[in-house]
Amino acid sequence: MTTRLAMLIAAAVAAGSAQAGMDEDARGVGLYGDLWRPDPVHEYWDPGAYHRPETEAVEGVFTGAECVECHADVTPGIVNGWRDSRHAAPGDGAEPVTCAACHGADHRALRFPTPTDCGACHGEQHEQMLDERRYGFPSHALAMERAVDTKHFVDKPKPEVTACLACHSVATKCDSCHTRHRFDAAEARRPEACLTCHSGPPHPDDETYFDSAHGRRYLAEGGTWDWSKPLVKGNYPVPSCAYCHMREGRHQVADKAIWKFGLRDVNPRTAENTVKRRRWIAVCTDCHGESESVAWLRALDNERKRAWRLLDEAEDLLRDLRADDLLYPAAGERPPYPVDWWERFWPRARIGFHEGQASAFYNVSGIERRYFEMWYFESLGAYKAAAHGADAQVAAGHADLRRALDDIRREAEALRELTAAERAAGKRVDPAPLWRAGAYTDLNRERN
Ligand code: HEC
Ligand code: HEC
Ligand code: HEC
Ligand code: HEC
Ligand code: HEC
Ligand code: HEC
Ligand code: HEC
Ligand code: HEC
Repeated sequence: MTTRLAMLIAAAVAAGSAQAGMDEDARGVGLYGDLWRPDPVHEYWDPGAYHRPETEAVEGVFTGAECVECHADVTPGIVNGWRDSRHAAPGDGAEPVTCAACHGADHRALRFPTPTDCGACHGEQHEQMLDERRYGFPSHALAMERAVDTKHFVDKPKPEVTACLACHSVATKCDSCHTRHRFDAAEARRPEACLTCHSGPPHPDDETYFDSAHGRRYLAEGGTWDWSKPLVKGNYPVPSCAYCHMREGRHQVADKAIWKFGLRDVNPRTAENTVKRRRWIAVCTDCHGESESVAWLRALDNERKRAWRLLDEAEDLLRDLRADDLLYPAAGERPPYPVDWWERFWPRARIGFHEGQASAFYNVSGIERRYFEMWYFESLGAYKAAAHGADAQVAAGHADLRRALDDIRREAEALRELTAAERAAGKRVDPAPLWRAGAYTDLNRERN
């Protein structure tokens, strides 16, 4: 070790870690970028938009070997991870991919690599991911813009929305399925690689997969399989998430999705969806016969048809209440979403996907909230159970959907009776004073 470097290491270790930079007056990105400000942590989640080099960091331009030498003391975990990775020892005697190749050599101009940076060497994977865009949302490629362009991302208090971008950063950096600094393909093939993000309502992929025949077999035996093998026919007895959704290792998760996130009723038999369904059947027939594969996937369509009958019925009940002005508080009696300023003049409750149901779940009346839960949690849970073969959860999900519809029916009747009584008595309890000072007001938005 050179003396200069030894002294620098001593000084650097003593200095500890300074915070990386982000512009003081950094603004949000996206449609509503003027209405929110990024947190310091966004620098890591969306480095392309927010990372600024730290000007008070260790100074110097270093070779890859020097980075490793000093960081073996400063951040040994990172160096060990890198040493175990293919980047440290690529096949065919290629040059190692050093710290400097990803972060730069000038310590006061360091960068955090974006997908584009990785794509300079892994163009194939990067292009496959970008190709998802042509299938619309959801997709990994669009995940960041979809989150920040959502109305409630801007309207809700900061603590309720900061975490959105941790998961939705799957679009803006590549260290999600193969974590830094191992960047291991084997890790990414396993279902655990997806679960940091694909868990819990409204997307219980974790819970439904592990409750399926595939997931149970994985739990029993997966620890002994050789995950260094690529995800192609013959290599694995049951599929993991990536086996099914990233067929043959393609970084494209959107090209087969018919029901997508599950928020809308669709016709699974359009020409486009027939092509997508054939792609799914090609996956299943790696291991199953064609006719049972077709039948299983048709069972998913039937489950959705039944769920949508119940959801449509609930939406009709709500539309009738809205038409008769029976929602309490009604749209004009509660604060409008700040980004929908025109609702101050034309208030209107949002019912169903096409009217913006996805952001209409707070500052709403009890019955609307009940419908939101039915549509977003109960229906999406039943959907993923049917998609992933968790039969018991399909049954439970449909029992929940029916209970929700009963609740909504009962509540609708109560609202009709109450309003009739109010009208007969010639007075209405004005909810506005209470609701206008609710939890989600302009004050909250100022702090975003
Ligand atoms: C002499 C010791 C030393 C050398 C050489 C060195 N670093 Fe660092 N590095 C540090 C210390 C200490 C920190 C934490 C404090 C700071 O940011 O200065 C750090 C922080 C970092 C960070 C995190 C920055 C952030 O914003 O969180 C990265 C990335 C990094 N170094 C990469 C490199 C790369 C790449 C090289 C080689 C080009 C390198 N380092 C060389 C000591 C060193
Ligand atoms: C293949 C590209 C790649 C290589 C090689 C690489 N890094 Fe990183 N590094 C990343 C990515 C990606 C992140 C995550 C950045 C983010 O969160 O936006 C990161 C984050 C970091 C961080 C800050 C976050 C943390 O985990 O604390 C440090 C420090 C760091 N790297 C140091 C190093 C050092 C030292 C080396 C060499 C031993 C190295 N990196 C090699 C891609 C790389
Ligand atoms: C300077 C070129 C370069 C950059 C930049 C780069 N890589 Fe690599 N990457 C390589 C090479 C070379 C290999 C080893 C290929 C081999 O051995 O055949 C590799 C291998 C990999 C592997 C396969 C590991 C395995 O277990 O088989 C993954 C995953 C990977 N890189 C991800 C990334 C990610 C993510 C980034 C950005 C954070 C990145 N790489 C940046 C050159 C690069
Ligand atoms: C860092 C978080 C994260 C990880 C890890 C992650 N995803 Fe995702 N995934 C998301 C987000 C966020 C979305 C929704 C994006 C949007 O809003 O458009 C998504 C969407 C999807 C979709 C929906 C595509 C569609 O067209 O409906 C599929 C399929 C998917 N991911 C599969 C996977 C699989 C398989 C893995 C593991 C190999 C995985 N994801 C790992 C965050 C993640
Ligand atoms: C635990 C990780 C996680 C968190 C936290 C998270 N999401 Fe997501 N989000 C996902 C996943 C995964 C999907 C896709 C599920 C699917 O396709 O089944 C998704 C889907 C979406 C979608 C629908 C897809 C689309 O493109 O229209 C939107 C919008 C969205 N998220 C916005 C947000 C917002 C806003 C927040 C914060 C309030 C948030 N998400 C928090 C993981 C997350
Ligand atoms: C949704 C999870 C996920 C994300 C996000 C992801 N990868 Fe991967 N990656 C995988 C899986 C799974 C494999 C293993 C594929 C296989 O079995 O062939 C893999 C393999 C790789 C390989 C090795 C390919 C080979 O043939 O050896 C490279 C290189 C790679 N990914 C780069 C990237 C880059 C660059 C990004 C960001 C643009 C990225 N990955 C984002 C899941 C992911
Ligand atoms: C046997 C193959 C298979 C496995 C394994 C699997 N899925 Fe799925 N997944 C499906 C099918 C089929 C659908 C419904 C597709 C459709 O018709 O829209 C689906 C739907 C989804 C969706 C909604 C978007 C879409 O593509 O329709 C997400 C997100 C998702 N799965 C994530 C996961 C995650 C995460 C895992 C692992 C925990 C996983 N899946 C395991 C087959 C699988
Ligand atoms: C990599 C091989 C593989 C792939 C791909 C695969 N399966 Fe399976 N599947 C199995 C195995 C093996 C079992 C039996 C698991 C057990 O019980 O141990 C199974 C069981 C099932 C079951 C439980 C019912 C039964 O007869 O055991 C269903 C349903 C199922 N698969 C549906 C699908 C669908 C739908 C797809 C495509 C979206 C698919 N599978 C893709 C290997 C696979």
